[in-house]
Amino acid sequence: MAQNSIPKLPKISLFFLAFSAITFITKAKQHELKETKLTLYFQDSLAGPNATVIPVGGTFGQLWSFTSFGTVYASDDLITASPERNAPQVGRGQGLYMISEKNGQNAYMAMSIVFTNKEYNRSTIELQGVYEQFVPVTELSVVSGTRKFRFARGFAQFGTYFLDTTTAFTITWCNITMFHY
Ligand SMILES: *[C@@H]1O[C@H](CO)[C@@H](O)[C@H](O)[C@H]1NC(C)=O
Ligand SMILES: *[C@@H]1O[C@H](CO)[C@@H](O)[C@H](O)[C@H]1NC(C)=O
Repeated sequence: MAQNSIPKLPKISLFFLAFSAITFITKAKQHELKETKLTLYFQDSLAGPNATVIPVGGTFGQLWSFTSFGTVYASDDLITASPERNAPQVGRGQGLYMISEKNGQNAYMAMSIVFTNKEYNRSTIELQGVYEQFVPVTELSVVSGTRKFRFARGFAQFGTYFLDTTTAFTITWCNITMFHY
């Protein structure tokens, strides 16, 4: 009885579906997936007039901080290809962090790496996921990208390279492994 109620697709649409599938496979074959690995350094100032990470929101009546649930930070980090403080900029880390765990350990990060160097100028890589703030190495997803990194998928690991608590300056290393067209 149930079988009888399944509507039969007209032959024409089955043909159309098969034809679309063939077109899709042909197009996909034209572009080979490339693997790219990048090592970058995010240089953050958390205080002073040149701060690159600033708190923009949080829970009413509570201190906004990196360990306070609900605090939201905007960032425009300097990104370099080597860890020296005066290394030339290759991009900016533009996005947000939100302290997403009640106990203040994890942050949610949604971040665009916006390249400014000659090789990848204006290409972007989109990072998203849980930033574990108090582990040696945390890992986020590469969910997409633009221009040279279209359809990017992969992962990015982060860890502290340098931390100066008196000036609230940090350098964070970032290793990205991704596939893209
Ligand atoms: C902020 O940046 C300006 C321009 O680059 C620089 O002259 C100044 O020394 C910086 N201030 C601090 C506190 O780092
Ligand atoms: C990046 O692109 C912009 C806009 O096209 C251009 O003004 C700039 O000079 C380029 N930068 C590099 C390093 O090529």
